[in-house]
Amino acid sequence: MLRRLYHEQPESFAFTAENQKWAEAQITKYPAGRAQSAVIPLLWRAQEQEGWLTRPAIEYVADMLGMAHIRAFEVASFYFMFQLTPTGSIAHVQICGTLSCMICGAEDLIKVCQEQIAEKPFTLSEDGAFTWEEVECLGACANAPMIQIGKDYYEDLTAERFAEILAELRAGKVPVPGPQNGRFASEPLSGLTSLKDFDSGKTKYNASAQLAVDLGETVKRIDGTEVPILTPWMKGKDASDVAAPANGKVADPAPVAKPAHAQKAEADAKAAKPAAKAEAVAEVDEAEPEVLTAARSEGADDLKKISGVGPKLEQTLNELGFFHFDQIAKWTEAEIQWVDNRLKFKGRITRDDWIGQAAELAKKD
Ligand code: FES
Repeated sequence: MLRRLYHEQPESFAFTAENQKWAEAQITKYPAGRAQSAVIPLLWRAQEQEGWLTRPAIEYVADMLGMAHIRAFEVASFYFMFQLTPTGSIAHVQICGTLSCMICGAEDLIKVCQEQIAEKPFTLSEDGAFTWEEVECLGACANAPMIQIGKDYYEDLTAERFAEILAELRAGKVPVPGPQNGRFASEPLSGLTSLKDFDSGKTKYNASAQLAVDLGETVKRIDGTEVPILTPWMKGKDASDVAAPANGKVADPAPVAKPAHAQKAEADAKAAKPAAKAEAVAEVDEAEPEVLTAARSEGADDLKKISGVGPKLEQTLNELGFFHFDQIAKWTEAEIQWVDNRLKFKGRITRDDWIGQAAELAKKD
């Protein structure tokens, strides 16, 4: 597949202050003169922060590592894990389309994507919330068909359950990853035939799903403020290597996945729901917020303190008439829509919680 930079690019990129510190720490792991060995982790963190790899992000990382831009671009364009086109503001769905999953229903999952996200892969859904792509075997064949969202796997899927997952994500929830048909892990669906006295231990879900729940970062954009969880097997590892939980908290336990027959019954009743939700998202009318022609006498606030706002975005906000944190903190949903419609890439105000951040910053001012 031809992998090129997206035709529309943001003006600039900057790591958040915490991600910048993290990136600089990664570079110290390599001997002097070998900083470019850190190119993959740095590009990956840039993608975790923004959702996809923009040209300014690739160049920023190359500059940090003293590499020619083309060298960093070669890495970004070679590995399919790097997204070179914008991804959904909520999630980018990767569907395994290899043998086991294909036999077990991957085509039905792809159909759900085509109906509810976009006809073609790597295309934003109408509300900008989702994108999808088909990928090669993700190594969870015993739980086929399956998808990956962020770092987590949703396994043993049916088209109905997958549609529900999309609807839950759209509604701001994060369904528990792991098997979706009631299995604990990859044991026989009819029950254990050996190791019958196996005790799953102290966790509610299998180890991968439990860690995903504990970290709570399935669809979170990583800004570097996350606090690492050190589970026993991670002890002794460098904390900067360890995944971190969203907001430094252990996520609330989410409901256990229901058995397939129960899902099927519920799914029939809810079949139309995801589409209805999509319409609801798209239906918010915009309303122009109160704007200023210039900053107040005390001078403009440094809007770059809002994580996700770089120099170019700050300039755009100023041009639109926003100079102060308290202006942004007051935006209503319709006003967010108005501003969003005037930004190059939609969805970042809600995704990065500009309102909450601005409210906090306004208090400190
Ligand atoms: S074939 Fe889908 S995970 Fe292996």
